Amino acid sequence: MRRGFKLLVLMSFSSLMLLAAKPADSTVEGKCMTCHKEKTKGLYQQWYHSEHGKHNVTCYDCHKAEKGDADAFMHEGALIATLVTPKDCASCHPNEAKQTMESHHATAGQILQSNDAYLAHVIGGHPVAITGCESCHGAKVEIDPASPNKLSKTSWPNSGIGRINPDGSWGSCNACHTRHSFSKAQARQPETCGKCHLGPDHPQKEIYEESKHGIMYFTNVDKMNLKADVWRVGVDYYEAPTCATCHMSASAQMAVTHDVGDRISWTLRPPISKKLDKSDKRRDNMKQVCSACHEDQFIAGHYYQYDALVNLYNEKFAKPATDIMTMIKKADVMKHKAEFANDIEWVYWEIWHHEGRRARHGAAMMGPDYTWWHGIYEVGKHFYLKFIPEALEYDVPEVNAYIEKMLSENKMHNWIDKPAADLKQGIKDGSLQLNYKVLFEQ
Ligand code: HEC
Ligand code: HEC
Ligand code: HEC
Ligand code: HEC
Ligand code: HEC
Ligand code: HEC
Ligand code: HEC
Ligand code: HEC
Repeated sequence: MRRGFKLLVLMSFSSLMLLAAKPADSTVEGKCMTCHKEKTKGLYQQWYHSEHGKHNVTCYDCHKAEKGDADAFMHEGALIATLVTPKDCASCHPNEAKQTMESHHATAGQILQSNDAYLAHVIGGHPVAITGCESCHGAKVEIDPASPNKLSKTSWPNSGIGRINPDGSWGSCNACHTRHSFSKAQARQPETCGKCHLGPDHPQKEIYEESKHGIMYFTNVDKMNLKADVWRVGVDYYEAPTCATCHMSASAQMAVTHDVGDRISWTLRPPISKKLDKSDKRRDNMKQVCSACHEDQFIAGHYYQYDALVNLYNEKFAKPATDIMTMIKKADVMKHKAEFANDIEWVYWEIWHHEGRRARHGAAMMGPDYTWWHGIYEVGKHFYLKFIPEALEYDVPEVNAYIEKMLSENKMHNWIDKPAADLKQGIKDGSLQLNYKVLFEQ
């Protein structure tokens, strides 16, 4: 109500008159509702019971189009568009739209150059790029030339988070605010993010379910006060944080953000993790959320353990594996020309893109099973028993020398030819752990 209040008062007044005057509501807005109440009953009910319905934000307020819009068409006497993009929502919600459009979510549709896209298009094929990748990431929504200004069936339906819209805007707000209820209570719940943030390469949903935070949420949903207008952690609710709590919602000191990157310090996506720009500031933002329920030493302890795990993954596995892959590629010894036609490329890919990410995400969000059994356990198994043997098979002198040096001199790797009893003694007396001390100090 804070935005466009006057406009809405005027609008709601006229809309109310229209509704009261049923069935003779001959204005454009009134006709949409009257007819769609019959033609698409469920859709109408979702809208009617939503905050938009209650505040008389009509079908036409969102769907009206301007002459010259690429996707505008005449429908029952009115010029409308089916897509309602962040630019359209921005006319009433400018702040949310600005933050969304500045976030990493908005650029999630720019994936065609990635190795992931290569896999989908070459190993899979076009239909799976549409129904897989693009349904999460979004893609360019095209106009069907055969049906003037209607949306092309190859590119819509699509509610990908970084969709590229005909009006030049990026994203789709209904990726989180499912239509036509457009509810913030829904968006605050972890299921919202779970459409995309799950699975072998980024199992945030599963990690959350495993974590103490998820346990507290799922066993206390009724106490979460999800419908509150203002939803500050520790003030308006206290049992558990959700995805939105940590990454978006308000705390006692901090406002809601629609830029989901505002509170994370590392990027855990690439083969070797990096700290983001202004990582200290971003981390401080997240710590403010934690401090609603935990004290500073506890929070610092969490980050100490998390950083050490990321460093372990980076230093022990990701950097050597990446060096070795680079040398093998440079030596031009792989049997097949195309990328991903050779076994070792898949092994390397899964080490960083699946298993290594799972470990990092598990440590970030308190999911021990993902950190170890689905994470570093798999990384270690595939690194020592698949990746290294396959790399040695190419018999490239530079690679052989690199591996030999690593396995004999690197204290994290030189266990292979030692008696197990000595290693076990090292665990007991703590000398083995000392080899990893440096990872806590970076
Ligand atoms: C007399 C009935 C009627 C009226 C009035 C009406 N619609 Fe529709 N609308 C339909 C029907 C039936 C369909 C589905 C068939 C079709 O595609 O034409 C539809 C389809 C749509 C679609 C999807 C179109 C597409 O091809 O993607 C949108 C969006 C829509 N209506 C919005 C509106 C809005 C906004 C208004 C008011 C300006 C409105 N409708 C008025 C009956 C109506
Ligand atoms: C708050 C803005 C908003 C309001 C109000 C709104 N819509 Fe929509 N509508 C959307 C969005 C967003 C989409 C999804 C299009 C997209 O992907 O961008 C959509 C999609 C649609 C579609 C096509 C998708 C489908 O599932 O069939 C129809 C039809 C439609 N709306 C009709 C209506 C009607 C009728 C009303 C009023 C009862 C209405 N809309 C009110 C935002 C709105
Ligand atoms: C279930 C939804 C989903 C599907 C399907 C999906 N992705 Fe993703 N993708 C994501 C999410 C969520 C992330 C971000 C994960 C994170 O930050 O940990 C991501 C990350 C990425 C990244 C890393 C981006 C960066 O900034 O580093 C690329 C590239 C990518 N995906 C491409 C693809 C391609 C291409 C496909 C199809 C082969 C695909 N994805 C399938 C949800 C999906
Ligand atoms: C990644 C998921 C996500 C996306 C995408 C998203 N939102 Fe939100 N939105 C949320 C969450 C979560 C909240 C609730 C924040 C809170 O706890 O108050 C919210 C709240 C809102 C609110 C209520 C604000 C208030 O103070 O009452 C509006 C309005 C809103 N979003 C508009 C938008 C618009 C417009 C877009 C697209 C430009 C958008 N959102 C995209 C997750 C999302
Ligand atoms: C004509 C103005 C207008 C347009 C366009 C509009 N909204 Fe709203 N929206 C409102 C009003 C008014 C409210 C209710 C008061 C408030 O929460 O600010 C609202 C509330 C919301 C809420 C909070 C609902 C809740 O549960 O409290 C969300 C989320 C939201 N809008 C998302 C969107 C999205 C997404 C779009 C575009 C698809 C959109 N709005 C387009 C005016 C608009
Ligand atoms: C429709 C799919 C989808 C939904 C729903 C979704 N995300 Fe994302 N999210 C993505 C993709 C794809 C990326 C990766 C974007 C990239 O790297 O290009 C991403 C990235 C992120 C990032 C990393 C941002 C950064 O700056 O590196 C965070 C944090 C995040 N999402 C949190 C959330 C939360 C919290 C929710 C729910 C409230 C949510 N997402 C809902 C698809 C989604
Ligand atoms: C208790 C707070 C908390 C909860 C709950 C939480 N996260 Fe996170 N999330 C974090 C922290 C902390 C990080 C790591 C931040 C950093 O690197 O500084 C993170 C990192 C991420 C990233 C970045 C991953 C990358 O590849 O760079 C994504 C995406 C993400 N979370 C999504 C989610 C989703 C989706 C949910 C719910 C299913 C969720 N988070 C629940 C705290 C939380
Ligand atoms: C809304 C309250 C709340 C918020 C916010 C919150 N937590 Fe928690 N956290 C809890 C509860 C409750 C537990 C379970 C305590 C127990 O084990 O009895 C917990 C447990 C933990 C644990 C121990 C996990 C385990 O398995 O023993 C860690 C670590 C943790 N939180 C870190 C964080 C960090 C870091 C943040 C911020 C990114 C955060 N928490 C935000 C409520 C919260």
